[in-house]
Amino acid sequence: MLRSLTAASIAAFALLPCVALAQGQAKGPPPLPEGAGKQQVEAVCSGCHVTGLINNSSGYTRDHWRQLIATMMDLTPSADTHNAVLDYLATNFPPHTRRAPTLVSGNYDIKLTEWVLPQLGQRTRDPIQHADGSIWYAGQYGNLIGRLDPRTGQAKEYPLPPNAMPHTVELDAQGRPWYSGNKNGTIGWIDPASGKATVYKMPDPKSDPHTLAFDKNGIVWFTFQASNLIGRLDPATGDLKVVPVAAQRSQPYDIKIDAEGTPWASCNARPCLLKVNPTTMEVTEVPLPLPGTTVRRFAIAPDGMIWFVNSGRGQLGRLNPKTGEIKEWASPSGSRSHPYGIVFLDGAVWYNESAMRPDALVRFDPATETFQSWPIPSGEIYAGHLRNARTTREGNILIHQTSTNRIIQVTPQRRAAPRRGSGVDLTFATHLAASTRCGCQIQNSTSSIYLPVVL
Ligand code: HEC
Repeated sequence: MLRSLTAASIAAFALLPCVALAQGQAKGPPPLPEGAGKQQVEAVCSGCHVTGLINNSSGYTRDHWRQLIATMMDLTPSADTHNAVLDYLATNFPPHTRRAPTLVSGNYDIKLTEWVLPQLGQRTRDPIQHADGSIWYAGQYGNLIGRLDPRTGQAKEYPLPPNAMPHTVELDAQGRPWYSGNKNGTIGWIDPASGKATVYKMPDPKSDPHTLAFDKNGIVWFTFQASNLIGRLDPATGDLKVVPVAAQRSQPYDIKIDAEGTPWASCNARPCLLKVNPTTMEVTEVPLPLPGTTVRRFAIAPDGMIWFVNSGRGQLGRLNPKTGEIKEWASPSGSRSHPYGIVFLDGAVWYNESAMRPDALVRFDPATETFQSWPIPSGEIYAGHLRNARTTREGNILIHQTSTNRIIQVTPQRRAAPRRGSGVDLTFATHLAASTRCGCQIQNSTSSIYLPVVL
C-alpha cells in the first residue's frame, strides 16, 4: 500500500529551489486522471509548472519517468512518495507516438555533446559562447545565470536579485554577461569575480524585459513581450528609452541587429516583423502575409536575408528586407510543429520543431530547398525544448533542453559520399535506429523537397 503524502513532506516540497509560479493555471489545464498517486503528483509537480505538461507529454516508461523527473526534483529522500509518483505516471502516461516528428534523412551527420547543469528544474536556456570558450546560460526558473566550462563539464551558477527570472543571457563586447529581469522589470549584468549584479530598472517595474541584443556601439536593445514595448539602454551613460509598439498585443519577442545597425524584432502574437529606427526608435511594422503567422525567433544571414520561424503555422520563412519579397516552406512535421529557435550557419538554416517529441532539430539548405532533421535527445530520454540557439566560433550550434537542464553542442558534418557498392544509406540507418526509440516517421531525402507555400 502506498502511504499518502504527509503534511511534513508536502512542506518539504514547498521549499524546492524553484521560484517559478505555476503559469497559465487560470486557463485550467486538463485535470489529471483519477488513480492511486494522483494526490502526490499534484502536490509535488505543480510548484514550477502546471500539471498540464504531464497530460501533454509524450509519456514514458517508469524508468524514463524516473529519469525525467530527476532533472526537475530529487524525490529519492522520500521513497514512498517517489514510488507513488512513478507508479501513477507510468500507469496513466505510458509512451505514445502522437507527438512524433516526421524526420527527414539527408547528407549531414551531427555529433552531439551534452552537459547537464547543476540546479534541478532551472529551465536552462539560451547558451552562448564567451570569447574564453566558456558557455553562459540562463536558468530562468532557478533565477540564475551560469557559466559552464565545456572542457571540464564544471559549471558555476550565479543567483540573481530576487524574482529577476532571466529570460536570456547575452554577452557585451567586453564579455560581461547581461540578463533580462523578465519578472522584476530590470536588466543587468553579473561580475563573475564577485557575483555582484549591476542593475538597471525599467520605468515600469511591472514591464517584462525579454530578449537582448547589443549593437556595435555597445547599446543594448531589448523586447518586452507582454508589455508590448521595445527598449534601449546605453550602459556607458545609463541613458534608457522605452517605446510602445503601436499595434496592441504584438508581443515583441526576438530582437537582432542587422549589418547596417538597424534593430529588428519579431511579433509572437500577430503576423509581423518590426524594424526599429536606431536613432529615433520609431517602429515600422513589416506585415507578414499569411493569417495565423506568429514568429518566435529569426536569424539574419550574411547576405541580409531574414530567416524566421513561422511558429503559428509550422513553417520556415524568408524575408528579403531590400525587396520585401517573402517566401515560406512547410516544416517537415507540419502545421502544428511550432518551429522555435533558429540560427544561420555556413549557408544553411537550423531550427527546431518544438511541439514535437522528440523535439526535432531541422536543417534547411536554401540552395536545394531541402530539409533534413534529427531527434534531440536528453540522455536516454526525449523531452524538450529548444527556445533559443546560437552559433560558436568553431562553427557549432549551441542548443538546450529546458525540461532537462541540458546544454547540447551540435557539430554538423557533411557526410562523405557513400562508398560505391555499399548500398547503405548511413543517415537513413541512423534515423531508423532512432525511430525505434521515438516512434518517428521517416522520409527519405529523395522525397523531402518541399514546395514553397503559396503566399
Ligand atoms: C523545480 C521545478 C520543477 C518541478 C518541481 C517539476 N518540474 Fe517538470 N519541468 C520543469 C521545467 C523547467 C520544465 C520545462 C518547461 C518549459 O520549458 O516550458 C519542465 C517540463 C516538464 C515536462 C515536459 C517534458 C517535455 O516533453 O518537454 C513534464 C512532462 C514534466 N515537467 C513533469 C513533471 C513532473 C511529473 C513533476 C513532478 C514529479 C515535475 N515536472 C516537477 C521544472 C520542474
